[in-house]
Amino acid sequence: MQIRNLLPTDYPAVAAIYQQAIDDGNITLAMKTSTWEDWDADHLPNLRFVLEEEGLVLAWVALSPVLQRTGYQGVAELSVYVDQAAQGRGLGPQLMDFIIGESERQCIWTILSFIFPENVRSIKLHEKFGFRILGTQEKAAQLRGVWRDNTIMERRSKQLI
Ligand SMILES: CC(C)(COP(=O)(O)OP(=O)(O)OC[C@H]1O[C@@H](n2cnc3c(N)ncnc32)[C@H](O)[C@@H]1OP(=O)(O)O)[C@@H](O)C(=O)NCCC(=O)NCCS
Repeated sequence: MQIRNLLPTDYPAVAAIYQQAIDDGNITLAMKTSTWEDWDADHLPNLRFVLEEEGLVLAWVALSPVLQRTGYQGVAELSVYVDQAAQGRGLGPQLMDFIIGESERQCIWTILSFIFPENVRSIKLHEKFGFRILGTQEKAAQLRGVWRDNTIMERRSKQLI
């Protein structure tokens, strides 16, 4: 098992794992996966990784810019997704640990996550890695015509702040 940089050739596997989360209905507002070009443009080039076992991508993690305004370059949003068949084996925690370390090396001082309150598993995982709940936006956006709340979680680097 290894964690390595996410390459364009990994994208079909990355998108397939994300599709599982779309199908779940309680994880993301997305209705379909992006093209590689859009995904690539939306995520920081040096902060995207896959966890691979025997040549198979089982999970991925990435950070995206949150605000394009000057001064906010150290604030990023986290995405972490584990293939359903590989969940519950600690792969999510391994990737969280890895990207937090890398993000601090690359001067990211705040990581944010936007999580449906129903996704208790993800909220617990974030708490385990030092994230705290900033609050819950009620009716933040609609998914398939239903208003959904968003719990906003934040981790601030103790090394950088
Ligand atoms: C959330 C996710 C990343 C966790 O990764 P994982 O490899 O399955 O993590 P694990 O099951 O090994 O558990 C990690 C921690 O989550 C929590 N957890 C796990 N299962 C849980 C459950 N059923 N209910 C509540 N908390 C749970 C625990 O704190 C656990 O730590 P522990 O093993 O010390 O108890 C993974 O399940 C996933 O990809 N889910 C779908 C996508 C998703 O929700 N991504 C986050 C979007 S914001």
